[in-house]
Amino acid sequence: MKNLPLPRIDRNSRLHEHLQRYCRLAPGEIWRDPEGKHRIGCLDATDEARISRLMAGAKATLAIHDPPYNMVAFDSAEPAGFIAWCSRWIDCTDLALDEDGSLYVWLGADQNDHFQPLADFMIMMRSKPFRSRSFITMRNQRGYGTQKNWMAVRQELLYYTRGNPVFNIDAAYTDIPKILRGYYKDIDGKTTENLQRSKSKNIRAGNVWVDIQQVFYRMDENVNGCYAQKPIKSCERIIRASSNPQDVIVDFFCHSGAALIACELLSRRCFAVDIDPVFCEIAIRRLEHFRRTGKTGWQNGNPFEAELAEDKVVQIS
Ligand SMILES: C[S@@+](CC[C@H](N)C(=O)[O-])C[C@H]1O[C@@H](n2cnc3c(N)ncnc32)[C@H](O)[C@@H]1O
Repeated sequence: MKNLPLPRIDRNSRLHEHLQRYCRLAPGEIWRDPEGKHRIGCLDATDEARISRLMAGAKATLAIHDPPYNMVAFDSAEPAGFIAWCSRWIDCTDLALDEDGSLYVWLGADQNDHFQPLADFMIMMRSKPFRSRSFITMRNQRGYGTQKNWMAVRQELLYYTRGNPVFNIDAAYTDIPKILRGYYKDIDGKTTENLQRSKSKNIRAGNVWVDIQQVFYRMDENVNGCYAQKPIKSCERIIRASSNPQDVIVDFFCHSGAALIACELLSRRCFAVDIDPVFCEIAIRRLEHFRRTGKTGWQNGNPFEAELAEDKVVQIS
């Protein structure tokens, strides 16, 4: 296994600045896939004019958004500034999404701060043209917490819809094992519990997912330098359930391009956005790397390893 890790690019300003020279996109520009499927815009998700230009009249069936939820970045201890910002990219989603569409939003809840920003986000969404449908929990392998609280082991995913969107429940296959014992029943004089009686070892997707591994450096899909990668499997589950092949899917915070790769794997078209040219470049490279090698990431290599090996100038760690 290669050992060419990168530190978090967002926290290493020197590396971030150095990588700009390898970026194809400047702010405001859109990359168009030579195979005619995907688009990646180096755009601000709250800029309606630019999002309209990205869509160019197309409508998405599905939006999968994973915004940054660190409120410190919004210069406010109160969630109000963050929620006002969320309201703007939700308006852009309104513009990009079909009348029969689905919207999924990953959002954290700080258990030591009244579950913000999730709590106020949910309230803000009451004034938007979407219906709440589900509050999904994805269980992490590892948790964090103190000895004096329950360990935090979940990620929160909100599901909204409007109109009459597709929901392919059969396609939402899972590896989620049946884990709950109980419901005893006497059969032929023997007491059995439900695991003994069931035909399948797995359950269909409910709103608690316990079968998705968090990304770490030993996995093929790992993209070093990215700090907030979602597992491709989580994107695939959403995409299978809430879209059909050839549909357009928008991701306004694409970062490592997890949704983009899932779209490529499942024959959907991804229109992705990130405000940062470096993450746009990483997403484009990840797609190209996948098409060239069949690999969904770099494991413990990195997207810029060829250039960085040549550049003696940068201390990357
Ligand atoms: C939490 S990460 C998304 C992770 C992504 N789901 C993945 O699997 O790699 C958030 C991303 O949003 C981008 N971002 C922050 N503000 C933005 C804005 N106003 N418009 C578009 N992208 C933005 C950041 O550059 C960052 O890459």
